[in-house]
Amino acid sequence: MKDLINILDLSISDIDELIKVATDIKAHPTKYADACRGKTLATLFFEPSTRTRLSFEAAMYGLGGNVLGFADGGRMSSASKGETVSDTARIVSIYADIIAMRHHIEGAPLAAGLAARVPVINAGDGGHFHPTQTLADLLTISSECGRLNNLTIGICGDLKYGRTVHSLIAAMSRYQNIRFILISPASLALPEYVIREMNAAGIEYVQTTSLTKYMSELDVLYMTRVQKERFDADELAQDDGEGYILNNETLSTAKPEMRILHPLPRVDEIAVEVDRDPRAKYFEQAEYGKFIRMALILRLLYSSGKDESIKTLKAETKCPNDRCIVAVEPEIERHAYLAPDGKLRCLYCDAALE
Ligand code: CP
Repeated sequence: MKDLINILDLSISDIDELIKVATDIKAHPTKYADACRGKTLATLFFEPSTRTRLSFEAAMYGLGGNVLGFADGGRMSSASKGETVSDTARIVSIYADIIAMRHHIEGAPLAAGLAARVPVINAGDGGHFHPTQTLADLLTISSECGRLNNLTIGICGDLKYGRTVHSLIAAMSRYQNIRFILISPASLALPEYVIREMNAAGIEYVQTTSLTKYMSELDVLYMTRVQKERFDADELAQDDGEGYILNNETLSTAKPEMRILHPLPRVDEIAVEVDRDPRAKYFEQAEYGKFIRMALILRLLYSSGKDESIKTLKAETKCPNDRCIVAVEPEIERHAYLAPDGKLRCLYCDAALE
């Protein structure tokens, strides 16, 4: 594996190994203090970030390496002059040994990975995927619950645009005896392609609009914020500002051992009073994020091999997703793959091709 674009690029045993290394780094940080001496990480961020960018940078400094990059690529990089994602990645791979990219365009990190000669990590692409957040989530669940199997996981909030949700469901669907309680208004329910994948994998799930109805059954409650920045004009017009709020009252029937996660930032979906509840683990989750990113950097820098997991076909047809990089950069080479549902799908964003 050269790049990490989708959490499914990693097998369960890859994830077990990353969790093992991250746990060792957390316990013995000095052992790893020179592991990346002389190596450079580039953080190319075209969307705002606090945790992901700074935890990547803290991770590389913690490994003794160097960091360069930009936090506001749309304004501060030559993308503002029209340079493509592919050219940007090609150039940066002259200056850095590994790249972490966040972009508002779905598929942009994959395009970067195809052009760069160094590993590229997807640090979030539009509403599509956020695999390193999922690694942080898996390390948190594994460390705090003691297992990744036999869990009932409630996911609440914006399931439509929440890229952390899509990656978490994809990852957890590979473990044994996982049941999802999917809590959202109908307008922010999971995209159809995620539901289809859960059905194909035989995953048990319930879709509900109630935050409290299944609370007593949950082992993990994963709260998310509503991503209004991804709403289209119709969605903004219909938005009434009403949302879910987790507080001491809505938590009253939860198990004592339930764990509350949130990828953060929160807006108002978790009341500050919940921060004092021992079940609240969202700040620890951000700390776990640094250790798992350290483990991932080590893995991508020091394990060899090209990515064999991505099989591509040339696609003659256009991608119908106007948020995909193929729509934004029409000159980009088109790639597709044959999905388990028999449809030809865009490799960059997973939309079915006509
Ligand atoms: N969880 C997460 O991706 O946070 P940032 O947007 O602050 O990076």
